[in-house]
Amino acid sequence: KKAQAWSARFSEPVSDLVKRYTASVDFDKRLARFDIEGSLAHAEMLQSVGVLSADDLAAIRDGMQTILAEIDAGSFEWLLDLEDVHLNIEKRLVELVGDAGKRLHTGRSRNDQVATDVRLWLRAEIDIILGLLRELRHALATLAKTHATTIMPGFTHLQVAQPVTFGHHLLAYAEMFARDAERLADCRRRVNRLPLGAAALAGTSFPIDRERVARTLGFDGVAQNSLDAVSDRDFAIEFCAAGALVMVHVSRLSEELVLWMSPRVGFIDLADRFCTGSSIMPQKKNPDVPELARGKTGRVNGHLMALLTLMKGQPLAYNKDNQEDKEGLFDTADTVRDTLRIFADMVGGIHVKAEAMREAALQGFATATDLADYLVKKGVPFRDAHEVVAHAVRECVERGCDLADLTAEELRGFHAQIGDDVHSVLTLEGSVAARAHVGGTAPARVREQAERVLAETAGA
Ligand code: ARG
Repeated sequence: KKAQAWSARFSEPVSDLVKRYTASVDFDKRLARFDIEGSLAHAEMLQSVGVLSADDLAAIRDGMQTILAEIDAGSFEWLLDLEDVHLNIEKRLVELVGDAGKRLHTGRSRNDQVATDVRLWLRAEIDIILGLLRELRHALATLAKTHATTIMPGFTHLQVAQPVTFGHHLLAYAEMFARDAERLADCRRRVNRLPLGAAALAGTSFPIDRERVARTLGFDGVAQNSLDAVSDRDFAIEFCAAGALVMVHVSRLSEELVLWMSPRVGFIDLADRFCTGSSIMPQKKNPDVPELARGKTGRVNGHLMALLTLMKGQPLAYNKDNQEDKEGLFDTADTVRDTLRIFADMVGGIHVKAEAMREAALQGFATATDLADYLVKKGVPFRDAHEVVAHAVRECVERGCDLADLTAEELRGFHAQIGDDVHSVLTLEGSVAARAHVGGTAPARVREQAERVLAETAGA
C-alpha cells in the first residue's frame, strides 16, 4: 500500500534513511492546530466561492474537530511515512470523511500552507513574548522603585566610575527590554500577512477570495506576490534577530547578576530556588539560572545565523531548504519564552545588600568628577579642573586614602578656589542628587522613571 501522497509518480519507494532525512513531522507537528485553523478558513472560503459544497464543508469541519480532539488526547497517530504535519492531518481527514477530505487541498499547496501555519504560530508566540517582556519590565521597575536611593558604584571598563543608584541601573535594562518589545511588535506587522492563495508558487486557477481568508484568520492583509509569499522567510529571520537581542540583553544582565553574587563583590543574593549546589563542595550556592541564560544566548544567536544562511542561496520560489527554518525558529521562541518567564520571577527575588554596594562606591574615587565639576562652577575651565583633581587623586593613591579624607585645607593645596564647602560634593548622596536632569541617576528622577515603567506595564 502506497503511503506517500505523491507516490504514483514514482517507481520505487524512498529508502528509510531518505524518508527520515526528508520528514519533518517529528518537529512540525507542533503546528497542528494552526494547520487546522488555516485549513478550515481555506475550506470555508472555497465553499463561499462555490468550489466546495456545503456538505463537503460540514464534513471537513466535523473531521477536523475529531482530529483536534485526537491530538489533544494524544491518540493521534503521527506517521513518518506521511512526511509532515500537513500530510498527516490531510490523510486522517480523508480516512474520517472521504471525498470531502480529498477536496480540501483544491487551490492550495503545502508551500503556501506551511508559510501560513508558521505565521499563525509565530504571531501567537510574539504575543506571549510581548506579555512576558511587560512582566519583566514591571518586575525591574518595582525593584527600581524600592532602590531609588540605594547607591552603588557605576562602572566603565569594570572600573569604578561614578556613583549611581541601583534603581537607575535596573531601569537601564527596562529600557532595553522596551526596545525589544518595540522590535517584536514591528516584526509582528510583517508576520501578519497571509501567504495562502499563492498555492505552489504561481497562484491558482480557482476563483479564490484571499481577503476573506485573511479576515477569518486575523491577518492584516494578503501577501501581494505569490512567488515571494511561498519562498521568503525574512519574517522568521526578523523574529530571530529580535529574539537574539532579547537574549543579548538578558545575557548582559545575567553577567552582572553572576558578578554581583560573587562573594568578592557581594552586592546581591539570588533566591535559593534559582540556584544550585555543588556535588562536591558543600558550601556552594551557584547562580545557575543567569549562567544558563548567558549560555543559551549562544544558541539563539546561532539560530539567527543559521536562518540567514539558509535563505541566502535560494532561488525563487519554494525550496525544501525552507523546511530547515523550523527547529531553529521553534527553539528561539521556546528559549526566549522560558528565559523571560524565569527572569520576571527571579528579578523580584533579588536580595539587595545595600551596605556592600555603598561600601564599594566609597572606594575608587567615584566622586572625582564631582570635584572637577565643583571647580568648573567656580570658573575654572573643565580641562584644567580635570588636571587639578587628577593630581589630588594621585596624592590620595600614594597615601592610601580617599578624596573625602583630605581636609578642605589640604584640598586647597591643589587649587586656591577650593572652599570649605567642598566636602558636600564629595559625598555619594550629593553626587547622585546633582544628576537630576531627564535620564539622570538622581533618586527623584529614578522614582519618576520607575513610576512611568510601572504605569506602562500595569496589569503585567
Ligand atoms: N514540510 C514542508 C516545509 O516545512 C512543507 C512544504 C513542502 N512542500 C513541498 N513541495 N515539498 O517546508
